[in-house]
Amino acid sequence: MLKEIHEQPTALAQTLQGRVTNGDEVTFDDFAPGAFAGVTDVQFVACGTSYHAALYATQFLASRGVRAQAFRAGEYATSPAPVKSDTLVVGVTQSGETADTLSSLRSAHSRGARTLAVTNVVGSTAAREADDSLFIRAGPEIGVAATKTFSSQIASLALLGERIIRDRTGLASDGVSELLESLESLDRDVRRVIDESRAEEIATAYLDEQSYFFIGRDIAHPVALEGALKFKEITYEHAEGFAAGELKHGPLALVTPETPVFAVFTGSHDEQTLSNVQQVQARGAPVIAIASEEHDAAIETADEALTYPDATAEVAAILANVQLQLVAYHVADHLGRAIDKPRNLAKSVTVK
Ligand code: M6R
Repeated sequence: MLKEIHEQPTALAQTLQGRVTNGDEVTFDDFAPGAFAGVTDVQFVACGTSYHAALYATQFLASRGVRAQAFRAGEYATSPAPVKSDTLVVGVTQSGETADTLSSLRSAHSRGARTLAVTNVVGSTAAREADDSLFIRAGPEIGVAATKTFSSQIASLALLGERIIRDRTGLASDGVSELLESLESLDRDVRRVIDESRAEEIATAYLDEQSYFFIGRDIAHPVALEGALKFKEITYEHAEGFAAGELKHGPLALVTPETPVFAVFTGSHDEQTLSNVQQVQARGAPVIAIASEEHDAAIETADEALTYPDATAEVAAILANVQLQLVAYHVADHLGRAIDKPRNLAKSVTVK
């Protein structure tokens, strides 16, 4: 896992190679011009970490005016959402072999929707069966915990999102220049996060707690969910991710000085997340902010901070997530867990 965390700058460079150009436009030639012009709505189906990437893609599109939803493939396979012939159903699956995601894609296809597999494995079942494929080009991932493939999924889905918007409207989305600028330095920025991270120090300071919470809103929400999944998967400690605004609707009852809260800031609606931070601090919980190094308010309000180079929110999500991968890794390492082969889990889940 640690090796694959360190491979992320290379993986991301491969993912983006030839797909982004300088200037003010994303060049993404994986599909013929206008390929998505008739798409009215997008449904993403995926499991686990890939579901979090799907949620990210949903946020990306929905915030730019495209109707998009993410579904857990295990649910969609048995309770599918209605589709039309101009619905694009995207299966996000690193392996391309996850049974529930394949069933969901098949169900969508049989009901007349157009299907697309976003996968890391050329020749996988998803790639062979879907109408189209988008390869994330992260390189082989061996560790059960998905790390570099999540980063590459997100980067690929941002490009796909831009392409869908351009095909539908003939125009690049608002904010495309900032996205491009952040993507251009992404591999170097991820390298800096890895090289300068204080995650091990934070991990050792909070090794023996009752439970670990992860919060974020907007595009930081899937990052919070992913941070919690990675943490529980390899540390075997209880961890939960929440939409920050949901805390006061129930989870706040669990917050004590023994529940460290990792608060993810990406620069989108951060003031509201800061007020959620103050709510948990009032109950005694220590807060670790994951924030841009320029985000003084988050850094000063939180008890600790893990920072990343400033970037647009969609790219900040990738940088913030790398810090959370490192926290999970170091806690698991200090607890002596079998990090590369966590108990009860398989790399690829080929049964329903
Ligand atoms: O191969 P897939 O992307 O379809 O796998 C989906 C999940 O099984 C996978 O992301 C799982 O949640 C990871 N091991 C988590 O690290």
